[in-house]
Amino acid sequence: MTKINAAITSVGHYLPKNILTNKDLEKIVDTSNKWILERTGISERRIMDKRIINKTLPLNESKGSSFMGSEAAKECLERRGISAKEIDLIIFCTVTPDMMFPATACLVQNNIGADKAWGYDLSAGCSGFLYGLMAGTQFIKSGAHKKVLVIGADMMSSILNYEDRNTCILFGDGAGCVLLEPTEEEEGVLDFTCQVDGGGGEFLKMEAGGSRNPTSHKTVDEQMHYVYQDGRTVFKHAVSRMAEVSVKILEQNNLEGKDVDLFIPHQANIRIIDATAKRMGIDSSKVLINIQKYGNTTAATLPLGMYDAVNDGRLTKGSNLILTTFGTGFTWGSCYIKWNY
Ligand code: COA
Repeated sequence: MTKINAAITSVGHYLPKNILTNKDLEKIVDTSNKWILERTGISERRIMDKRIINKTLPLNESKGSSFMGSEAAKECLERRGISAKEIDLIIFCTVTPDMMFPATACLVQNNIGADKAWGYDLSAGCSGFLYGLMAGTQFIKSGAHKKVLVIGADMMSSILNYEDRNTCILFGDGAGCVLLEPTEEEEGVLDFTCQVDGGGGEFLKMEAGGSRNPTSHKTVDEQMHYVYQDGRTVFKHAVSRMAEVSVKILEQNNLEGKDVDLFIPHQANIRIIDATAKRMGIDSSKVLINIQKYGNTTAATLPLGMYDAVNDGRLTKGSNLILTTFGTGFTWGSCYIKWNY
């Protein structure tokens, strides 16, 4: 029987036009451009809702993550030159769905007119896209589907407390999308390793709005609908886990740092990125960094990285690409892709 691999055949993205700079944040919370740049590497991030910068603007209905994901999907399909009607499955990776239900994948299916697709949402925080990519890969490899869209989209500004300097400076909004299709060549998504440590859940969470703490005056008063993070603990785990799993994926595939053409790590903090690349023995010129302009876009980070790399020519046919991520849960993982276009 012929072996089938899953290849990424197109990419798309969406970034809101509104830019929230470190200088803007200086006016909102007790922070400084210098502190944010030195401790995180972030200069600016994108936000859907301008009222974060200017509270006097009128209240418009927010467009949500489905809008960003749909725009990214439309661009992805357009670049491939195919209709949404050819899509079999949509995997929508997010921690900021438009609503608790229906699933955001269903909203996107309707928005883009993917008449014959089914779909579902996948929640793994910053690891969401990598997990979704691995799920989509299995549907292609098994022969069940021929065209799968994997979307990573998060509107983190909708769950951030812009009075909490520990978290609001870190994240931005955005979406990225890839199309997976079968190939008989030894290329595409070739290997992965993913892990979970549920003991980490207490260090990065949004406590209310789910079944354990349904929305009430109390949950709103106690600010339980915002991101809570113990930054130092998450930082420590992110550094060691991302390095471990990145080294493991190299070893599993008999690769060394010098064999990697591009490394796209999750963009949470420039210091985590540097430490991981160093452990892998990868030269800094081969590490994609876009945290300075987007911040941490959660599930959108990895596909936005691939989008940038395709456009600036850093990813071409045959490139050895490693993706690595870490997120709430804790969840983490890494995959090896031989780029195919
Ligand atoms: N501006 C100015 N000072 C700030 C600040 C801000 N935006 N945020 C925190 N501080 C202060 C803290 O209050 C603390 O002050 P204190 O010593 O008086 O208590 C001091 O800076 C140092 O805080 P600390 O938490 O040790 O800073 P840090 O160097 O660990 O950086 C993070 C904080 C959040 C940037 C860092 O821990 C981090 O990146 N964590 C992981 C983030 C992450 O990966 N999240 C998503 C998972 S994918």
